Amino acid sequence: MTKKKLIAGNWKMNGSLAANEALVKALVAGVGTPACAIAVCVPAPYLAQVQTLVAGSPIELGAQDVSARAQGAFTGEQSAAMLKEFGVHYAIVGHSERRQYHGETDEVVAAKTAAALANGITPIVCVGETLAQREAGQTEEIVKRQLAAVIHVNGHCISEIVVAYEPVWAIGTGKTATPEQAQAVHAVLRAQLHHAASDHAAGIRILYGGSMNAANAAELLAQADIDGGLIGGASLKAPDFLQIIAAAS
Ligand code: PGA
Repeated sequence: MTKKKLIAGNWKMNGSLAANEALVKALVAGVGTPACAIAVCVPAPYLAQVQTLVAGSPIELGAQDVSARAQGAFTGEQSAAMLKEFGVHYAIVGHSERRQYHGETDEVVAAKTAAALANGITPIVCVGETLAQREAGQTEEIVKRQLAAVIHVNGHCISEIVVAYEPVWAIGTGKTATPEQAQAVHAVLRAQLHHAASDHAAGIRILYGGSMNAANAAELLAQADIDGGLIGGASLKAPDFLQIIAAAS
């Protein structure tokens, strides 16, 4: 398998023109010739700025969300075709913050995944359980249900997606899943993908996200089914993000 790992930064609602410029310039200067794929998923108003800043570098541009709709009266949304015009390569879909604060259901996440794929954007589909669900022993059931909805709608091109396992209790909390905990869930997701697309399942990237940082990245990325990381807080500091990229290389 010649699949390169993917290290994707999720800036969330952080940044400014000045801060973005400093961060991306430091990344471009420090990244060298990486052995992994790299993306930064930036707030929508900064897509044009960051598109210019990453041009000619190995860093690809990502969005943090995408509309399920093609166009029309959907105030506040951005279509996949619009994102594509700004060179967007990846779009995060179904992040737990979207599910939690914006009521995104499994069906909406599946539809957004389809919209991204139809426009040549690689969706990074997020799944993950809450602490209560983990403690109730429901982790497997929850992530399988979330991924099943996406497979149901996008089965024919499921090999084109990236999956991100992000336990909700690990996001922004400094509480990382142990490599064993993460690998166990990644293996479940891999088996589910194998069932949906046997020939391609091994090639589908499954990222881990949730307090991944410069100190713990190498150990997580060494697991058999962890094919990269979706990094929030640590992607805002160039030295930390570069260290995670180095750990994946
Ligand atoms: P974190 O966020 O790295 O700050 O925990 C990860 C994410 O939510 O994608």
